[in-house]
Amino acid sequence: MKPTDAIRHAGNVDAAGHVRGESIYLDDLPEQAGTLHGAVFASPIAHGSLRDLHRDAARAAPGVIAVLTATEIPGENQIGGIVPDEPLLAAGEVHYAGQPIAVVFATTEAAARAAVKLMTADIEPRSAVFDPREAARLGHLIVPPRSFRIGDLDAAWSQCAHVFEGSAETGGQEHLYIETQGAYAIPTEAGGLRIHSSTQGPTAVQRTAARVLGIPMHRIEVDVTRLGGGFGGKEDQATPWAVLAALGAWRLRRPCKLVLHRADDMRMTGKRHPYASDFKIGLAADLRILAYEVTFYQDAGAAADLSPAVLERTLFHHTNSYFVPNARATAYSCRTNVVPHTAFRGFGGPQGMFVIEAAIARAAEALGIESAVIQERNLLRDGDVFPYGQIAARCNARRTWEDLVSRFEIAALRQEIERFNASHATEKKGLALMPICFGISFTKTFMNQASALVHVYQDGSVGVSTAAVEMGQGVNSKVAQVAAHGLGVGLARVRIESTNTARVANTSPSAASASADLNGKATERACDALRARLLAHAAVMLGKAATAAGGSPAGAPAAGLAVRDERVYDGDTPTKIAWVDLVRAAFLNRVQLTAQAHYATPEIHFDWTTEKGHPFAYHAYGTAAIVARLDVVRGTYVIESALASHDFGRSMNPIVDRGQAEGGIVQGIGWMTMEELMFDAEGRLRTNALSTYKVPDIYAAPERLEVHFLDLEGPPHAILGSKAVGEPPLLYGIGAYFAVRRAIRAANPKADIAFSAPITPEKTLRALHGARFAARRAAPRPTRAHAP
Ligand code: MTE
Ligand code: HPA
Ligand code: MOS
Repeated sequence: MKPTDAIRHAGNVDAAGHVRGESIYLDDLPEQAGTLHGAVFASPIAHGSLRDLHRDAARAAPGVIAVLTATEIPGENQIGGIVPDEPLLAAGEVHYAGQPIAVVFATTEAAARAAVKLMTADIEPRSAVFDPREAARLGHLIVPPRSFRIGDLDAAWSQCAHVFEGSAETGGQEHLYIETQGAYAIPTEAGGLRIHSSTQGPTAVQRTAARVLGIPMHRIEVDVTRLGGGFGGKEDQATPWAVLAALGAWRLRRPCKLVLHRADDMRMTGKRHPYASDFKIGLAADLRILAYEVTFYQDAGAAADLSPAVLERTLFHHTNSYFVPNARATAYSCRTNVVPHTAFRGFGGPQGMFVIEAAIARAAEALGIESAVIQERNLLRDGDVFPYGQIAARCNARRTWEDLVSRFEIAALRQEIERFNASHATEKKGLALMPICFGISFTKTFMNQASALVHVYQDGSVGVSTAAVEMGQGVNSKVAQVAAHGLGVGLARVRIESTNTARVANTSPSAASASADLNGKATERACDALRARLLAHAAVMLGKAATAAGGSPAGAPAAGLAVRDERVYDGDTPTKIAWVDLVRAAFLNRVQLTAQAHYATPEIHFDWTTEKGHPFAYHAYGTAAIVARLDVVRGTYVIESALASHDFGRSMNPIVDRGQAEGGIVQGIGWMTMEELMFDAEGRLRTNALSTYKVPDIYAAPERLEVHFLDLEGPPHAILGSKAVGEPPLLYGIGAYFAVRRAIRAANPKADIAFSAPITPEKTLRALHGARFAARRAAPRPTRAHAP
């Protein structure tokens, strides 16, 4: 049965609270009397031996209660999740500028920050590495390299009519969640702690705090109301700040709050991984891709964090939505002396997909054809095998491509651009098509599980707790919809509770776009159980079944009965029993009105010794067209339009899903065009404020941004057939690089353009006029008269 229109068009249940300013974030929690505030003292340099730390002046400063360092840690000074290689507080050595060394707790935030400024450290500098290729040469790897292989690559090259090689690089990306990292830790009775954290991973915070404090997890309760954005930046990296607050609360037995200021958040937290890559692509005379070889150098930063998992997803997505019969992809996770990089929407997938798009562009440019010809020729079909062994099923790659091309009249658009370019000397347009394919499931199979705890209260209202964390993506709305649909009640009856490790334990982080599927399916199961119990009682009330022993009509036949619109139906006929009456009667008859359920995605598996398996529940597909308009004189450009035909399955919440698609596209465009991280020679982030780090605003969003919903029957593992949508649309943004590239080549067909994103106006200007710049520099003091 499909959700009713009222449920489907619910939009975001948080919207009213947000626009009225009533939604609660970490900083809105009332502070207890005696609360202390923390501030972090961090390494000023990229690499060195920590000789001495001068904290006396800070200790003596007004309001300061304590300055804590690694020596004050009661348990293990270790926060590494995948690889134990990251201390909470530096001891002995520092590995990046911005690495926490000490935390000051004071009676006010201002006092804590002032005290941090009084601290100094004697650090003997050591040589630092900032380039991932250099790190790989030196053997500084986080984990051993991994390779995905399919077919016989070495034999395939000789079959190719055309072979092209090149390099490509993509930059990092600052998450810029509106709410910075922060946590509030409160001592509870009997040596317990309650931690309010702005985290995507409550259990990671709980587990790590327990490890650092040397206590069992059951003493720590982590509670999350909602996040002012995460985008992956709080999957792992909310943890250190929460654990530092916990350390303060534990040692000082007072509530401790730690919230990063924006500049500290920008310099102390990891970003999307920059990648440098080499590719070689081989095509048959008919333009089928026969061979593809790629090597990825991931800039992991100074510690593993989630880098090995991100690296894995790069490998999974290195062929994007194309069938490639012979391929070898090798990936190195390289240890450098910058902040450990982390999850960011797409999780390594975008970095892998950029490279095959670059390879296709290189081939198309050399052959004098449109990239789209090669792209279309190679799109996946049902039955094609991915390099990791999974077979493409219900593959909508071609459907979205064809729908885009006809719906948005791409042939006419192309002609219009050609006419524009022919008639404009100082402006040029470029068009790129961008097909996408994204695997849905955590690549670590064990993480694909979730639980729900659903209470039906005596008055018929419903409370739902799951592992899902709301961060703006609308998962609370979707879980509420599942519960309302599952119980046959209105959305107003359903309340989604905070995410709390004492109510729902052992949670996977809300990530991998899988939160609605995993937590929605768990909620669906809990509601199935409740509905069965309630309808069994309804059968008794209607005289259709006898009451079982103990007053509990266990297993009573409820055939033909259903709850819809808050009423019990017998077939199509409404009965006299309303939802509230049913609940009340069931309660009086001692029917259990709480259900707990667990869901683990079926069928998925992966063998990392062979690098083959079936890791994804399904794939999300789509195709976009991006148009850029370039000012040939200035090198500036606008992204004029982004048009997409996206496979949402049967969207359970089109308002939320459209928001995810539009936001993801703009975030992807930002990554490809204007967001540029700059470090100085000492490895300090210079772009640590919004004055120096440019993010897309409303003016940078495409003038025309249209997302068409291909309403297709969704796969069974998608909740209510509605496909995961959180990350995939970001991938359309990759098209922005190629659209700008096309526009540059329209102006200057000989332009030497590196496959280097972001393609900032500085880079476009150089590509447009690079030869002339070089000539001018060489010329002896050009005068006005000589200048071109
Ligand atoms: N949308 C908003 N508004 N805020 C966010 O922080 N995070 C993205 C995406 N969309 C994010 C967002 C990322 S990185 C992921 S993995 C998914 O949402 C997580 O939520 P989901 O699993 O419910 O899709
Ligand atoms: N995606 C996002 N986050 C993750 C993943 C993944 O595949 N694996 C571990 N954390
Ligand atoms: Mo998203 S990068 O999986 O949090």
